[in-house]
Amino acid sequence: MSYENILVETRGKVGLITLNRPKQLNALNDALMDEVGAALAVFEADEGIGAVVITGSEKAFAAGADIGMMAKFSYMDAYKGDYITRNWEKVKTCRKPIIAAVAGFALGGGCELAMTCDIIIAAETAKFGQPEVKLGILPGAGGTQRLPRAVSKAKAMDLCLTARMMGAEEAERAGLVSRVVPADKLLDEALTAAAQIAEYSLPVVMMIKESVNRAFESGLAEGLLFERRAFHSCFALDDQKEGMAAFVEKRPASFKNR
Ligand code: HXC
Repeated sequence: MSYENILVETRGKVGLITLNRPKQLNALNDALMDEVGAALAVFEADEGIGAVVITGSEKAFAAGADIGMMAKFSYMDAYKGDYITRNWEKVKTCRKPIIAAVAGFALGGGCELAMTCDIIIAAETAKFGQPEVKLGILPGAGGTQRLPRAVSKAKAMDLCLTARMMGAEEAERAGLVSRVVPADKLLDEALTAAAQIAEYSLPVVMMIKESVNRAFESGLAEGLLFERRAFHSCFALDDQKEGMAAFVEKRPASFKNR
């Protein structure tokens, strides 16, 4: 498949997707999100890939959904066509971990795309925001739902209602971001974290992702039960035998993803 709005590479066991509409600060449209979905499907099917990194440019991870495109929408375009958001499913349902490596603007749909990923690593230059209110709309791809779960109701209300941007340090303090690094180290840091994850047992990594996500979809008792069943199932894996044998024998584990 050839891509026009993203760059797609493989770095060892890591799939790398770079959003690439530099003139529009990586504004998201259906073509771009279709390509992100297609690239994720390829990585998902590739046994050799253990984790994915999505990044943008130095200036922008993504400055939101393409306003030029949305400006012409009627209600029927938005509702029946389900433009932009209809392509987000693959990011949400991808079973392998996805790290968002964010420098510069992550606004509106850009912030929502980062939040749909599993880990956000931010450059010191990163700026997060949900400025849709300025355009006469509200966030439409999880901003009002994922942001309060990540940073508290007060801060989510602040960002969504005032449209102010939050810098990387504030985002880390608030819990949106897992690490903040100098801009020139961003991609290395994200690729190293992804490569580390990709060395672990893929079925276990997938169970961890599924279980953590369950915390946001269920009550505590149901989530704990889900986790316990997944934990029990690990004992059917060769990788559990290998991981524990390696510890006992004081050597690095070599997982076979089964
Ligand atoms: C289309 C965009 C864009 C966007 C920037 N551009 N953001 N085009 N859609 N979301 C374009 C500009 O029009 C401009 O093109 C070029 O990128 C550079 O942007 P500038 O504004 O000149 O840069 P700067 O002064 O540095 O300001 C950067 C900025 C500003 C603060 C990020 O561009 C901005 O406020 N953008 C809009 C952010 C936003 O409102 N996002 C939410 C969108 S709604 P030209 O051709 O003039 O050079 C949304 C809803 C999601 O995301 C719903 C579900 C997915």
